[in-house]
Amino acid sequence: MHSYSLLASAKINLYLEILRSRPDGYHDLVMVLQSIDLADQIDLRPLGGDTISLHCNHAEVPQDESNLAYKAAALMAEKFPEPFAKYGVDITIQKRIPVGAGLAGGSTNAAAVLVGLNLMWNLKLSDRQLQYLGSLLGSDVPFCVVGGTMLATGRGEYLSSLPTLDDLYVVLGKYRSLSVSTAWAYQTFRHQYLNLSDAPTLKNHLQRVDSEKMVSAITSKDNSQIGQLLYNDLERVVLPAYPQVKRLKEEFQHTGCAAMMSGSGPTVLALTQSRTKAQQILDSIKIAIGDSDLELWISKFTRSSIQVASAVK
Ligand code: C5P
Repeated sequence: MHSYSLLASAKINLYLEILRSRPDGYHDLVMVLQSIDLADQIDLRPLGGDTISLHCNHAEVPQDESNLAYKAAALMAEKFPEPFAKYGVDITIQKRIPVGAGLAGGSTNAAAVLVGLNLMWNLKLSDRQLQYLGSLLGSDVPFCVVGGTMLATGRGEYLSSLPTLDDLYVVLGKYRSLSVSTAWAYQTFRHQYLNLSDAPTLKNHLQRVDSEKMVSAITSKDNSQIGQLLYNDLERVVLPAYPQVKRLKEEFQHTGCAAMMSGSGPTVLALTQSRTKAQQILDSIKIAIGDSDLELWISKFTRSSIQVASAVK
């Protein structure tokens, strides 16, 4: 029986369009999702009994059953009771992805547990089977099982691969003390833009956006077009409610690059084609904002989400 050390990549949205609300409380979306090389480390170790334990180096991450990585292990234990009874699992999470940031940090940790337990318990499940299990845990988990560049529809769980983009850099900015509730962002959007009794607003919303242009820019690897077409419906509710995030996006734009909020925020991202340029953008944002609460990172687009860094007997 091996212990596994996995790297679990963050994800950004290049495109997020909300099509309609659903009776189950979720929303039908069209998204373009991208893995980046900012990653947490997830270590999985057999315990030799039917127990799940979880540790994390970050004070704000829960270390109990409410952690999505713990829920992933509990789901695997329920579906595969025999190997669970024999081996159990100890999970250690080293956080590098900011928490509550709109970068799918919790979802990618859960995906790493699914991928890692599939190996550790020798289950031989396919990516599709792991993605199905992921869909029971959260909307972003199926993407995080495989990663790369993907078009996602439905709740986010129907995925099709797009040509890989791996030559772009992203500068990320997040205020340490700010986090946005994803549920709040979607509910506020629903009230403001998807109200069926407000027909003109709804019609206007549905006519406005077009994911096909983004998909064709990706297919033709037109990096500057990709920047022009960045789109996120959730900006329309999060930016007015969080003026700091709005100002951060404007400062990114003043550097001349394409910028947008990722997911439900509050992380703002800017795309660029070289590490040198990324560093220049980071330095000028740091000076322009001048707030020690603002954290900034440089990351690169990557082709996959979960990587096995080592397996030790
Ligand atoms: O699926 P997940 O638990 O990550 O979603 C978090 C919240 O985001 C949901 O409770 C829901 O309010 C909102 N959401 C949504 N429509 C989606 C995905 C998420 O309304 N497609």
